[in-house]
Amino acid sequence: MFKTKITEMLAIEHPILMGGMQWLCRAEFVAAAANAGIMAFLTAETFPSAGALREEIREVRRLTKRPFGVNISMLPEVIHEERTLDFARVAAEEKVTAVETAGRDPSFLMPVFKEAGVRVLHKVPSLRFAKKAVSAGVDAVIMLGLECGGHAGMDGVPTLVIIPRAVDELGVPVIAAGGIADARGFAAALALGAEAVLMGTRFAATIESPMHENIKKRYVGVTELDTTIIMRSIRNPLRCYRNKATEAVLAMEGRNAPLAEILAIVGGRVGRAAYDSGDAEGAAFPCSLGASLIHELKPIHEVVDEIIEGAHRILDGLKGMESAGPSARTGGMAS
Ligand SMILES: Cc1cc2nc3c(=O)[nH]c(=O)nc-3n(C[C@H](O)[C@H](O)[C@H](O)COP(=O)(O)O)c2cc1C
Repeated sequence: MFKTKITEMLAIEHPILMGGMQWLCRAEFVAAAANAGIMAFLTAETFPSAGALREEIREVRRLTKRPFGVNISMLPEVIHEERTLDFARVAAEEKVTAVETAGRDPSFLMPVFKEAGVRVLHKVPSLRFAKKAVSAGVDAVIMLGLECGGHAGMDGVPTLVIIPRAVDELGVPVIAAGGIADARGFAAALALGAEAVLMGTRFAATIESPMHENIKKRYVGVTELDTTIIMRSIRNPLRCYRNKATEAVLAMEGRNAPLAEILAIVGGRVGRAAYDSGDAEGAAFPCSLGASLIHELKPIHEVVDEIIEGAHRILDGLKGMESAGPSARTGGMAS
């Protein structure tokens, strides 16, 4: 067991979070993750209205007694302040354990959450935005390295550097995200000072993930050279696995196509239809560099248990190296 400030804050068994994923993070998927001892978030923007989100929260409660949260994504392509506030009010009224906010400064939502005692975990790809969120009073920062699937931010700082920078600068618990997909990434993140990890892509490629098998297979087949970042030219970079849809978007960006044309491919409805139909080329699917470390579809609890057990083995191995001393490590060749 790994006990950290985040396992304490959220009352979860393991310091692992499943990031919100548009269209995927509905009741059954979130409850399966909660039952595996981790924190997961219903993705508010998946639902047509605040009322529908409330129903889904109640459905999760029928499926698990464990804590869970709501993801409030305020991304340029979806943000509508009143709708966001309605989602936030429902999450607060229903007293979910935590919200994962992302996409813009969460200050305007803070009073709603603080009053209800809901923990706010704000997800950012840049230290500048993280500091702003800390001054707004968030409980923890989810710091994204450039490896992450989805909105990677403009700064392009890798996980190995941005996590210790955030730990040194922020003064609130840091949750590491971006390219983490197995026990090695988890142990490394804790070594960098993170109090937990958040993963998206690893969980998208699980048995319980509600995406079509064709698309899951693509995630398992991705190597470290098969992702690409689209929409950087409009300052909204999105890391996806490379396919016909991402090539089309990059071509549009090359000729400065109007935003509406780009959104016709990247927009939510296209993605939702493709997740259901299994058209793995027909939409832009967020995907991490860490997908190259995923070789098999497994149930969520197996992914989690392997990470925890593997991390203990890694720690034991490191301790073994320490006691072996430098000459033993190099087979007596050290001079
Ligand atoms: C398929 C997919 C959909 C995602 N959708 C959202 C979303 O709607 N809102 C959000 O805040 N993040 C979204 N993300 C990002 C994840 O929550 C998380 O930040 C990211 O996956 C972490 O990096 P990793 O993929 O390297 O684990 C998505 C990621 C994936 C893989």
